[in-house]
Amino acid sequence: MELAGKVAVVTGAASGIGLATAQALTAKGAKVVVADINTEGGKAAAKELQDAGAEAVFIEVDASQEESVANLIAETVKAFGQIDIMVNNAGIRALSETHLLSYEDYRKVIAVNQDGVFFGSKHAIREMLKTGGGAIVNTASILGSVGEARAFAVSASKGAVKLMTKSLALQYADKNIRVNAVSPGYIETAMSNRTTLSPEAYERSVAKHPIGRLGRPEEVAHAIIFLCENDFVTGATIMVDGGYTA
Ligand code: NAI
Repeated sequence: MELAGKVAVVTGAASGIGLATAQALTAKGAKVVVADINTEGGKAAAKELQDAGAEAVFIEVDASQEESVANLIAETVKAFGQIDIMVNNAGIRALSETHLLSYEDYRKVIAVNQDGVFFGSKHAIREMLKTGGGAIVNTASILGSVGEARAFAVSASKGAVKLMTKSLALQYADKNIRVNAVSPGYIETAMSNRTTLSPEAYERSVAKHPIGRLGRPEEVAHAIIFLCENDFVTGATIMVDGGYTA
């Protein structure tokens, strides 16, 4: 798929991996909707892209709420006429020992990380079916492949995302809609960095990546671009994890 002129929606694009993906997509000439629950950050991100000469708008969304996601897709079509690329990237994490994890906190993680992929895919696919196809990329995680103490809810949601990706890929392959995922290791974003992790936790995380450092958001964005561009890849999950799961 040639990305120039294509319309892409990126959820969780106010920061981190989503922002790097929005930047990479606009660098390829795509029009981008910066979709995030963080209005201030999302508007700033869209402005930064516009200032760099890109076509970008901010649309507020709560990825965990179907009505909000349906509105995001409707507003995207209003702004740009169609949707070619959907990057379901918004995510949160809650770390807790499972016997202390409240059902509410567990549901919150499932709602954003897993329900968000369902809603984003469902409503984007409805538009893609009208226009003859498109590409969906979901952000999974190494925690959907390997276990980690205290990451129970994240693992549940990200494991689901990987298999939801395969199910969607099979279901829509003959409709020219490809569905893939990226599975990042620990990436230097607001979620995992020297500020949010204790020095010990940071060093422990680095030690789990054979490459000897955490990843950069642009390195995940690079894989997302590949999955958008390559027309023969569907149902795949690319590990971008410095060898963590090798
Ligand atoms: P981040 O915290 O920088 O970005 C997450 C973005 O999602 C934020 O802009 C936040 O406002 C937005 N968001 C949160 N809840 C939302 C909601 N309900 N609706 C819409 N937007 C919402 O973190 P990062 O690292 O860029 O995370 C992006 C994705 O990468 C997430 O799905 C995360 O689970 C995944 N990931 C991150 C890893 C890391 O180490 N940073 C490792 C593996 C996966």
